[in-house]
Amino acid sequence: MNMQTDKQPHAWPDSWLTLEHGVRTGRYTDPRFAALEHEKLWLNVWQSAARLDEIPQPGDHTVYDIGNQSALLVRVDADTVKAYHNACPHRGTALAECSGHFDRGRIICPFHGWRWNLEGENEFVLERENFRGGKLQNSDVALREIHLEIYAGFIFINFAKNPPSFAEFIAPVRKLIDGQVIADVHHIWWKSVKAPANWKVAVEAFLEGYHVPATHPQLEVPAADFIYGDDVSGDFAFAHDNHGYEVFPHGHGRFFGGQSTPMAGKVQTQGDPVDAMAARLNLLVEGMDAMILKEDVDVVRSLKGKPIPEDSTLGGEYVKGLYSAAAKLQRPMPRPEREVLDMWGGEIFVFPNLLILPQAGNAMMYRVRPDGFDPNSCIFEIYSTKTYGVDQPIPRAVVQVMTDASDPEQFLPIPRQDFSNIPRMQKGLATIGCKQIWLASYYEMMILNLHQEMDRYLQA
Ligand code: FES
Ligand SMILES: [Fe+2]
Repeated sequence: MNMQTDKQPHAWPDSWLTLEHGVRTGRYTDPRFAALEHEKLWLNVWQSAARLDEIPQPGDHTVYDIGNQSALLVRVDADTVKAYHNACPHRGTALAECSGHFDRGRIICPFHGWRWNLEGENEFVLERENFRGGKLQNSDVALREIHLEIYAGFIFINFAKNPPSFAEFIAPVRKLIDGQVIADVHHIWWKSVKAPANWKVAVEAFLEGYHVPATHPQLEVPAADFIYGDDVSGDFAFAHDNHGYEVFPHGHGRFFGGQSTPMAGKVQTQGDPVDAMAARLNLLVEGMDAMILKEDVDVVRSLKGKPIPEDSTLGGEYVKGLYSAAAKLQRPMPRPEREVLDMWGGEIFVFPNLLILPQAGNAMMYRVRPDGFDPNSCIFEIYSTKTYGVDQPIPRAVVQVMTDASDPEQFLPIPRQDFSNIPRMQKGLATIGCKQIWLASYYEMMILNLHQEMDRYLQA
C-alpha cells in the first residue's frame, strides 16, 4: 500500500513514494523532488527563521536563507520584529547578507543608496523624480513583508501570501514546548555546518534513539557490547527501548525517556550510584556540552555520601538539587510536574526541521534545511541553550560557521558520531541497490509521520 491517492494532480515516479513501512529513496536523491519540496513545502510551511536572541536590540538584523529565498529579520523595537523579503525594490540587491546592525535605524541599499526605516517605509530615493514619471509613491518602494509569528523565543516565518494559521500548526506541541520554558532559554553556543546529505537524512538521524547502541556505544554499553563484541548469545537489555514515541497532527512528534533515564538515576553500571550517575551524565557534558551542563553534574556529585530520604530516589534528589541551584541564581525553570520531567532526555520535533531536546532549564536544539536546491547537501545547526540567572548578561546569539563535522577541534564526540553516518547514508541511498528503506513501526514512527505530512504539502 502506498500514499498515492486519486487526488494527486500528476502521477509520481515510484521512486518518490511513501510506503506503509518505509519510503522510496528518490525522496532523498532526486533533484526534481528537491525542487518540488522547495515550491510546495518550504514556500508554504511555518519554519523557524531565527531565535529572538539573534536580534536583541532595535536596529539589529539577521538573514535567513532557504532555497533561493532570503528573509531579512529586523528588530524594530522591544516588542516588534519584522521580516522582509531581502531584496531592494529598485534593482533587487539583497539588503543584508548576514547578521548585523542598521545604524541609526536606517536600512540603506549598498548599490544606489535608497533608504528605509526599520518599519520598512522608504525614506530616500536618489533623484526620485526620475522614477515612474515623477509619480513614485512610497508604497511602490516599501519593503515587502513576510508573515511572521513569535513563539517560544523563535521567529517563525511563512513565505505564503495567505499562510495557514500558526496557532493551529503549533497546537499539537504547544503544551510540551511551553512546559519546558523554551521561550526563556538563551544561547550558550550555536554552530552551523554543511553536511553532504539530504536535509531529511540529517533530520531523521535525530528522530529516534534506536541508533544509540551502534552509533554511540559509550552511552549504551551492554547493547553495544552485544553488537560489536564476541558474545552473540543475544541476552542484553536495550535501554533505549524504554523511550516512548508519539506522533501528532501537522507532522510533529516526540520521544521521551519517562522515569527510566540516566537523568532519573537509572544507570546500569555497578558501584556507587552517585559516581555512576555522575559519570554517565558527564558523558553528555564531555560528549556534546549541551542539554546536560557541567554545573548539572556538579549537582549530582554534591549528593555523594548524603543519605537519600526513604520517600525519594537518587533521581528525585538530583532534581531537587537542580531546582535549588537554579533558585539561587533566579533562573527560570520548568514547573517540576511529572509530564515536564518525563521529557528530560527526550525530544520535541516541530515539523519539518526543528528539534528541541529539553533538560532542566537547558535545551539542545537542532535545525536542518536544504542547502540551496542540492538534494545532496544540507545546512545543519546545533544550539546549546539554557535559562540565565537575573544577574547573568544574555549575549547576542551569533552563529559559528564550522567547516568540518568530523574535526575534533570543531565538534565534540557525540555529534561527530552522529555526523559520521550522515554522508554514508546519502551515499547508500543513491545506489541503485537501495530503492527503499525500512522504518521500524515504533522506534521510527516520527520519520514516517514526517514523510506523510510532507506528502500533504507536496500533493496540495
Ligand atoms: S539596487 Fe538598491 S538602490 Fe539600487
Ligand atoms: Fe545520536
